[in-house]
Order: sequence, then C-alpha cells, then structure tokens
Amino acid sequence: MNLPDMIEARKRTSKRVEHIDLDINLKDVFKGKKYFLRTYGCQMNVHDSEEIRYYLESLGYTNTEELEAADIVVLNTCAIRENAHDKVFGYLGRCKHLKQTKKDLIIAIGGCMSQEVSVVEEIKTKHPYVDIVFGTHNIHDLPKMILNANHKQDIEVFSCEGDVYENIKYNRDSKITAWVNIMYGCDKFCTYCIVPYTRGKQRSRKLDKIVEEVKKLKEEGYQEVTLLGQNVNAYGKDLDEGYDFADLLESVAKTNIPRIRFVTSHPWDFTDRMIDLIAKYENVMPYVHLPIQSGNDHILKLMGRRYTKEEYLTLFNKIKDKVKGVSITTDIIVGFPNETESEFEDTLDIVNKCKFDSAFTFIYSPREGTPASKIKDTISLEEKEKRLYKLNELVNKYSLEANKKCLDKVAKVLILGTNEKDDKKLYGYTDTMKLVNVTGDKSLIGRIVDVKITDAKSFSLDGKAL
Ligand code: 5AD
Ligand code: SF4
Repeated sequence: MNLPDMIEARKRTSKRVEHIDLDINLKDVFKGKKYFLRTYGCQMNVHDSEEIRYYLESLGYTNTEELEAADIVVLNTCAIRENAHDKVFGYLGRCKHLKQTKKDLIIAIGGCMSQEVSVVEEIKTKHPYVDIVFGTHNIHDLPKMILNANHKQDIEVFSCEGDVYENIKYNRDSKITAWVNIMYGCDKFCTYCIVPYTRGKQRSRKLDKIVEEVKKLKEEGYQEVTLLGQNVNAYGKDLDEGYDFADLLESVAKTNIPRIRFVTSHPWDFTDRMIDLIAKYENVMPYVHLPIQSGNDHILKLMGRRYTKEEYLTLFNKIKDKVKGVSITTDIIVGFPNETESEFEDTLDIVNKCKFDSAFTFIYSPREGTPASKIKDTISLEEKEKRLYKLNELVNKYSLEANKKCLDKVAKVLILGTNEKDDKKLYGYTDTMKLVNVTGDKSLIGRIVDVKITDAKSFSLDGKAL
C-alpha cells in the first residue's frame, strides 16, 4: 500500500527524471465482462481515460454505458474544485448500492482526487467497498491491480512523480482528433491550485518522441492534434536539450498534420517567437486559451500569477495584432479570499477590454493544502454567486458579439460527427475553436469543409456545408 502525502507532493528536486519505455503485455482474461468508465475534469483526464480504456479493453473487458451492467467501474476523478469531489462521492453511493447485489463488482478510483490525503483517508474509513485506488503517476499499475483484486482495498498512490513514460498505448475516443501529452505536472504553484500537488513536478517529454507520435497519428488519418500540458509554454524548461515550446510547435507544424492546437498557455512563458509561429504556420490554429484568472493586480499577486493586468493586456494585444483572426479564450476565478467589489470590477474591466471569444468562469474553491486555503475569507458565498452571475452576463455578451462577427462568412470547419440531439445535423469546430452545427451530408465527417455561417448564438454557430 502506498498513500499520498501533500508535503512530499510539494517537494521539487533538481533531479532530472528518466524517460522510460513502458512495456505492458496483457491477456484478455476478462473476456465477456464489461467495464464502465466515468471521467471527470479536464482534457488531461479525458486523455488519461484513453490510456485506462486501453488497459481495460486489452484485459478483455468491453464498454458499457450502463452502470448496472458493469463488472468493473472506474472513476477517473478531478480535484480542481470542491463540487468535483461532491459529484464523485455522490456517484460512489450508487456504486456501493450496486455492489450489495453484485459481490464481484470491482470499483476503482483514479485521477487527481486519489492524490489527496483527505480523500484517500475518507475512502479508507467510509468507503471500504472501493477495491482499487490508483494515482495519476501510476495509471499503468491499474491492470496489475485489477488482476490482483481480492476484495481487500488496494491503494497505490505515489506523491513523488515518477519518470516520464513513453510508449503509452491509448484507445482513443476519436479517429479524427487526438490529444498528445507534451508534458506532465506543473511548477507554477498558483496559490489556489491543487494541480502542482496532484500532478507533481513539471516533466517534459522529448521532442522527437512527440513528433514521432504526431507523425503516426497523421499516417492513421488524424486531422487534428491538441498538444496537452498544464502550462505548455514552459515546455522543455526541465530538460537539458536546449529546445522550448516554440521549437516543438515548429517541429509539429512541419509534420503537416492539418490542424494543431495546444492547451493550456500561461501568460508568463509566452514568447514572441511562439506568437510568430502561430501566425506563420497555417496548420497551427489561430486560437489561444490564455487564462487571466483576475483583472486586479493585488489579487493576481495573491494568486501568485506573476503578471499584472497591464502585462496581460500587452501580451493579449500582441497576439491579436500578429495572429490574423485569432480567437482568445480565458479562465476567470471570482471570489478569491477577501476580493473586494472594486477588485472584482477590475476583472469586469479586463473582460470589457479583451472581449474574450469565450471564458470559463469559476467561484474560488478552497483546496486543502494550498496556500490560499489558509487565508480567512470574509466574502459570503451569496456575494460570490452574484459576482459570477454578473461576470457571466458580460462574458456571454462578448461571446455572442464574437460569434456574430462570423455571420454570413465562410469558415473552415472540421466535421467531427452528428449532433447528439438531431442526427440529421453535423457538428464541428472552426479553426478558431467555435462550435458549429452544420447542415450537410454524413460523408463530410472527418473532413475540413467550407461552411457558410447562417446563425450565431452565444455558445455555437449554425451553418451550411458548401
Ligand atoms: N477554485 C476555483 N477555480 C480554480 N481553478 C483552478 N483552481 C481553482 C480553485 N481552487 C480554475 C482556474 C484554472 C481552471 C482550470 O480552473 O481558472 O485555469
Ligand atoms: Fe494550476 Fe497555475 Fe499550474 Fe495552471 S499554471 S495548473 S492554475 S498551478
């Protein structure tokens, strides 16, 4: 048994990590059995679930969307805010109920929540029916843990990140777009954020391995890759290889895969060369997700974000100027401890200045073990909710404005599939990452097509394939 430890998780050593090839061979010993996999949280988790899916399917399990039909339930969890916790523990109640009638059911919990000391304590004491707890650093241990499952709770969570594993296999959700990890972890330690603890120290993959993966995806017919990292602009800084994110971006662009995206960017490490490359290469999409978090310098300082409102604006304007037609989206937190009304108004002000294409907005949620969680907060939840509402109204107004600018224009849309609610309609994304519901033939799925935009709403566009 290995339990998480927040103090260990905070430690950063100068020791270089190893890059190790995984070699896992699995037999389909569970043929005929079914798995139910539920994923919470960010794209990193969605991609991790593609690794989990590979292990489950290699062991012979087939997918079911029905919890009651499952022989194994895997919850890949998120810890970013308290409500993510609540959802998982709520869902565990259903799993517990099922286990009462299905004694051999295996319940496994992985992802960021497993890296939290308090969560694992709660699972140990209140949820003994959970069979397996595995962490974010050892997803590849899951098959071994499943094979050894014997009705005793097995917890294998490592606080110190291990090495960078290569040769990870994925059963990807899509045959058109693919996630590609370029790095793991984060060293930024924004004071509100739990990610540097749950995902560990920043570890970059080697450039040639990433390019190799993209080339392979292109050969398999993938149209788009999204380079994934908590802070992609810091890529390479932990290696002694002399290359950075701009070098990686250029090398990936040269593979000629039709579309390249990357998330998430931190304003701190965004260089001019990166901006020039986004502008230069047609296959690097004109879309940047650039979290601001707050528009007030005092709050930004307390958050440990390392930039001021003015510095963010300068970078924002530079990207807008250099990258034609670029869309920029952001993340914003309201109600950081003791945020005053006038500090909140600075956030509204930057939204008014930037007119973001869209924004993910959140109420600050204290995360145990983070520095911000120790600050005594005097602002009520009711006040924070009011601010969120006000912010969302403004954000939505600008999303609609940005979308309306697309009206009657022709956009290049990568068609991903049929609309969930109306299978006669297709859906896809513009190069600027706007969702479009498209009238057109199913044969267009997987292709980048010209679409005439006929209607604009706050969260999507309508269009007709030409
Ligand atoms: N409370 C609220 N929002 C948070 N985020 C990260 N940590 C917290 C927290 N403790 C938001 C940030 C980040 C996004 C992924 O989640 O805006 O960019
Ligand atoms: Fe969290 Fe900040 Fe790292 Fe983003 S950059 S993952 S907000 S610590």
